[in-house]
Amino acid sequence: MKKSSKILLAVVVVIAALAVTYRAVNKAPSADLSAGEQLLQILEDGGCVECHSPEPKMPFYANWPVAKSLIGKHIEKGYAVFDITPLEEALENGTKPGEVDLAKVGHSLSDCSMPLPQYSLVHWGSSITGAKKNIVNAAVRTLRAEYYPNPLAAPEFADEPVRPLPDTYPHDSLKAVLGEMLYHDTRLSADGTISCATCHGIETAGVDNKRYSEGIGGQLGGVNAPTVFNSAFNFVQFWDGRAATLAEQAGGPPLNPVEMGCESFDEIVARLSEDRAFVKKFRSVYPEGLSQATITDAIAEYEKTLITPDSPFDLYLKGDKSAMTENQIEGYSLFKEYGCATCHAGENMGGLSYELMGQRDNYFEDRELVLKSGLTDGDNGRWAQTGIERDRYRFKTPGLRNVTLTWPYYHDGSVATLEDAVRMMAKYQSGRKISDSDCRKIVDFLGALTGQYEGEPLF
Ligand code: HEC
Ligand code: HEC
Ligand code: HEC
Repeated sequence: MKKSSKILLAVVVVIAALAVTYRAVNKAPSADLSAGEQLLQILEDGGCVECHSPEPKMPFYANWPVAKSLIGKHIEKGYAVFDITPLEEALENGTKPGEVDLAKVGHSLSDCSMPLPQYSLVHWGSSITGAKKNIVNAAVRTLRAEYYPNPLAAPEFADEPVRPLPDTYPHDSLKAVLGEMLYHDTRLSADGTISCATCHGIETAGVDNKRYSEGIGGQLGGVNAPTVFNSAFNFVQFWDGRAATLAEQAGGPPLNPVEMGCESFDEIVARLSEDRAFVKKFRSVYPEGLSQATITDAIAEYEKTLITPDSPFDLYLKGDKSAMTENQIEGYSLFKEYGCATCHAGENMGGLSYELMGQRDNYFEDRELVLKSGLTDGDNGRWAQTGIERDRYRFKTPGLRNVTLTWPYYHDGSVATLEDAVRMMAKYQSGRKISDSDCRKIVDFLGALTGQYEGEPLF
């Protein structure tokens, strides 16, 4: 044999051996396992916890000189954007996985962006082969069907990351009637000028369309007011999640010195108690009478009626193909392709998780350059509640229902148009430069999210 053919043969043998080994280590999980167990095994083989958990399991070469700085960076970045431990725990224990976690893992594995290629190069069992991808998709579908049933959607849309809004949210309608009165009652403010509706107008999509809301004595707040519509679907309330429930949330504004400015709920109870007719009505539903607990409970029950089903998008998901235009349908595909539906998932298209603002590019640095506006307390986000450094700049993802009407955008209200809000999301959250035409189609799609309240479209 010539020397060159010997070399060639050797190369072929080595490649074949590598291929056989690669297939052997890169086995898909056994079909005998449950959907959750199969997904868990793929995540474990994929080394996801090595970069996406608070206590990364370092690989053996992690302390080698070059590897150290590279791996350190990936682990730091990986954990900053996504903590996979709640999902792994749920899969291990057979408990309910997060809807956003399912959307994230499904998206990152089906577009092959994870695990990072540098990692798969060294960890042969980790990469997501075609067979594994099918298993991941099937497992996500099974888990969604089990934990997030979607009976309203047409069969072909049963496995979407976004679900239609239901027609009603469970509530007590007698209490809601009282809550509606209180919601519009300026006696909840110290000088009788401000009600909840001042900043969350029912006729203005539940917002005030101001960058910062104007409270008592014309004082300005430090963050933009989110809408009250569909807030019942949020996992917590406020940008920083400091209220666990709607009732707890409703206890905040009356005592907030820049919002409604009361000293205490006793002051509010005393004022309302002078109104004999109201007290009588109130006692017929709450025999225990007026108190912070009953007032905020009634308001919360009213807020549960503030939901906006039957947007064109909901009708489309329910099977009416003509409810959205071609551009809107394309916009929805792009919305998923750009990864928007990983954070803006579920019925309210958000409101289910805290996310780092600027996970792919530094939003706050750019804002300072462009708008000359430095950091504020409101920018700290979730950190203000936990003091954990990872939580700085992390916000409850806003829901996108009726988003066309709820300008200006972001927690700082610094973005005036929806086009800019979408373009910037692509840059800072998805890490992609978006074309004008894709951006317009997504904006068009977001226009299809305007729903109906009491049978009339919001406007
Ligand atoms: C070597 C470290 C590393 C491993 C292993 C890894 N990731 Fe990542 N992951 C990252 C980094 C870094 C980012 C931030 C985005 C980027 O820089 O590409 C990220 C981003 C993500 C995101 C955010 C989604 C997005 O598109 O913004 C998800 C979800 C994710 N990874 C899931 C996984 C899953 C599931 C696995 C296991 C199959 C995995 N990752 C394995 C480092 C890693
Ligand atoms: C002066 C304006 C103002 C008044 C009055 C006001 N709010 Fe708000 N509301 C805001 C702002 C600003 C935020 C965001 C604050 C934050 O996240 O830190 C907010 C947040 C909320 C949220 C959370 C929504 C979400 O997605 O996190 C709800 C619900 C809400 N308000 C309901 C009410 C109710 C009920 C009242 C009356 C008891 C009320 N608000 C009074 C300005 C106001
Ligand atoms: C990693 C999670 C994540 C991804 C991916 C993501 N978003 Fe967001 N989105 C957020 C968070 C968090 C905010 C709030 C940011 C802030 O207030 O500073 C937000 C805010 C928005 C807003 C403004 C809403 C309001 O009421 O202020 C729009 C519109 C929006 N996103 C659309 C999109 C679109 C379109 C995409 C895809 C191109 C996308 N998002 C991708 C998390 C995400």
